[in-house]
Amino acid sequence: MDSIIRVQGGKPLQGDITVRGAKNFVPKAMVASLLGTTPSKLRNVPLIRDVDVVSGLLGLHGVQINFDQGAGVLDLDPSNVETAHVAEVQAMAGSSRIPILLCGPLLHRLGEAFIPDLGGCNIGGRPIDMHLNALRSFGAIVDKQEGGIHITAPQGLRGTKINLPYPSVGATEQTLLTAVMAEGITELTGAAIEPEIMDLINVLQKMGANLSVDTDRTIRIEGVKELKGFTHTALPDRIEAASWASAALATRGDIYVRGAHQPDMTTFLNTFRKVGGEFEIDDAGIRFFHPGGELQSIVLETNVHPGFMTDWQQPLVVALTQATGLSIVHETVYENRLGFTKALNQMGAQIQIYRECLGGTPCRFGQRNFYHSAVISGPTPLHGAEIWVPDLRGGFSYLIAALGAEGESIVHGIDVIARGYEHFLTKLGRLGANVERA
Ligand code: EPZ
Repeated sequence: MDSIIRVQGGKPLQGDITVRGAKNFVPKAMVASLLGTTPSKLRNVPLIRDVDVVSGLLGLHGVQINFDQGAGVLDLDPSNVETAHVAEVQAMAGSSRIPILLCGPLLHRLGEAFIPDLGGCNIGGRPIDMHLNALRSFGAIVDKQEGGIHITAPQGLRGTKINLPYPSVGATEQTLLTAVMAEGITELTGAAIEPEIMDLINVLQKMGANLSVDTDRTIRIEGVKELKGFTHTALPDRIEAASWASAALATRGDIYVRGAHQPDMTTFLNTFRKVGGEFEIDDAGIRFFHPGGELQSIVLETNVHPGFMTDWQQPLVVALTQATGLSIVHETVYENRLGFTKALNQMGAQIQIYRECLGGTPCRFGQRNFYHSAVISGPTPLHGAEIWVPDLRGGFSYLIAALGAEGESIVHGIDVIARGYEHFLTKLGRLGANVERA
């Protein structure tokens, strides 16, 4: 069923909202609980679809889960992990990217796993070659089957050397979740070091894992025979916080984001200020607001941490349509994350996308046929339109565009947004947005 909302735009968003645990961390910590011989407790858990999907998948493998949604506390008891029925796991194919991270923990607990084909946003090919190469390097055998992959480790999992050709967040998590109980030492070079990765390392360390992170993106892990459960409070969602900040900019509003954490958002805050936004930081959160006057165009290049995060790009692009001059965005993490700009042009934006690497250093997509650079000419008044949500962050950017546009917009397929934005319609209501289910 197509979930549709009607948005009356043109009103600044004003008020305060709260962000809870990071969508790109919480499901990984849930997977890590499988490695423990005792129960785990995870706090600051948001009510988002990815948590539901992973809860379902862990449940299929015998993990007892209790989620106190109001308090945001998830209790996971992996005492009776068992092999799931393949047909039930197959039924979850396409629901999320997280299932691939179950490989290591299930191999350690059960000696085998059936992983459903992955879902996730259509922002590029989303290959998993680095994941599978890492697992094979530990001694796993990967067998592609109908609807997923069957994976075994007849000789067990042994520590190994893995070098990532690109600092993939998922492949780093795959390696960590496998290495912590593999026999011997694993050396991972070229690792991702995003705050969500570091929080997963915090969780694994609490469970009894031995891992060190060196200055050159090398992570060394010494496998142990047993891990215990953890109690942990998830770091806040810096992508959701930045999305609301971009909404404040694009609607000339003023939003206090309780839970926003400056150390995870330093690069975003620098960029937000360069565009002309203002922010005030206190111990509980960050106030993001448009100070009046004009916004400034910028040259922006997305990158791995500590660079400007690719997930911050789509919401900010909407604010850049209101900036004076030509802004340039060079998306270097995903090859196909600018398709969402087409609908913004239908609303009055002037965005041109290019195959060339514009504005910064050449990236791995430059010599191939990927439209991964954009030039945004502004300011352009936006007018309401009928639009369809393409992916998670593109969907939120459409909400921002509809809220900043004059007149009415009809936005189709908003359930995708619930994958990563807890209670987003309630929050929009709190901020004075004129939004209703159509
Ligand atoms: C995680 O995706 C996040 N998702 C993404 O957030 C985020 O954009 C991304 O990391 C980068 O920060 C979750 O954590 C659930 P990658 P992941 O592996 O792990 C290529 C959002 O909106 N690659 O770091 O899938 C890949 O194609 C989502 O919240 C390979 O080529 O990202 C991409 O170009 C979107 N082979 C680049 O690496 C592989 O085996 C970065 O991907 C793996 C990745």
